[in-house]
Amino acid sequence: MFALEVNHIVKTFNDKKKNIVIADDDVSLTVEEGKIYGLLGPNGAGKSTLISLISGILTPTSGTISVFGTDIVSQTVEAKKMMGIVPQEIVTELAFTVDEILHYMGGMYGVPLEERKDRIGEVLRDLDLEEKRYEKARSLSGGMKRRLMVAKAIMHKPRFLILDEPTSGVDVALRQKIWELVRRMNKEGTTILFTTHYLEEAEQLCEEITLIHHGRVIKQGRLSDIQKEFSENVVTFELFRPDVTHLPHVSKQGIEFHYPITTHLDQNMSEVIQHYGDNLRSVKSEAASLEQIFLKLTAN
Ligand SMILES: Nc1ncnc2c1ncn2[C@@H]1O[C@H](COP(=O)(O)OP(=O)(O)O)[C@@H](O)[C@H]1O
Ligand SMILES: [Mg+2]
Repeated sequence: MFALEVNHIVKTFNDKKKNIVIADDDVSLTVEEGKIYGLLGPNGAGKSTLISLISGILTPTSGTISVFGTDIVSQTVEAKKMMGIVPQEIVTELAFTVDEILHYMGGMYGVPLEERKDRIGEVLRDLDLEEKRYEKARSLSGGMKRRLMVAKAIMHKPRFLILDEPTSGVDVALRQKIWELVRRMNKEGTTILFTTHYLEEAEQLCEEITLIHHGRVIKQGRLSDIQKEFSENVVTFELFRPDVTHLPHVSKQGIEFHYPITTHLDQNMSEVIQHYGDNLRSVKSEAASLEQIFLKLTAN
């Protein structure tokens, strides 16, 4: 069962000044239930627009989106109940207390009144916000407000949690905390979709990604496959005594030597080790970092 199916979505904004195609007809993606999925792209790529389409805030110009098989346009309420959305911007009712805000959210998403109190306690414990329960949202720090946004989204224990740039502008400690929470919720069965322009985040959290740029999908698939595709196909090594008989096709690059991978990385690596033995100062084969891949793919 897919938690999310996005089929050939197009969204055009008919602005007076601009007619922007956010997503052309090849924005399609599927998220399998139980996964953590990354939606990547530089600023302005269309990530938040796609999230708004998935969460039913915007209506697609064409194409369909379903959440656990439920169409977001024709069955909006049912589909929305299965999702929790943490928007990119902090939007919350500053004049109310954390407790009031979460009561309201729980009510809106159908958490029975008698369960709400315990659920609020649980969520606040998870997010380390317990001591702020009866404080006004206005008095929370930026990081706490962001955690409150997550708390609001998970009050009704959604099967599918969507986070739009959850860690942009937060400090390292909170970033770790959010990652931990995402991993824990995922272990407990929640499917996760998050957006980021921060690549380490994708490397840390998910196996599969879609990379969008100017409203178009430019890469999609398993991170490991994408990295393999872009990885350098050479074994790089340094020698203590460079003046020796070399393997065929070895070339010198500064103080390093490059040996092209012809059959299989492991095999070529062991050929180098066997041939040079004690003379090896270092030997490595570098997979391209996601950062490099991203820059290459979004260069124009
Ligand atoms: N309501 C709108 N009307 C016109 N243009 C919009 C609207 N919403 C978003 N856009 C445009 O769509 C593009 C993608 O924006 P967005 O989805 O916010 O990107 P991202 O979240 O990847 O940074 C931007 O060029 C933005 O100006
Ligand atoms: Mg955005």
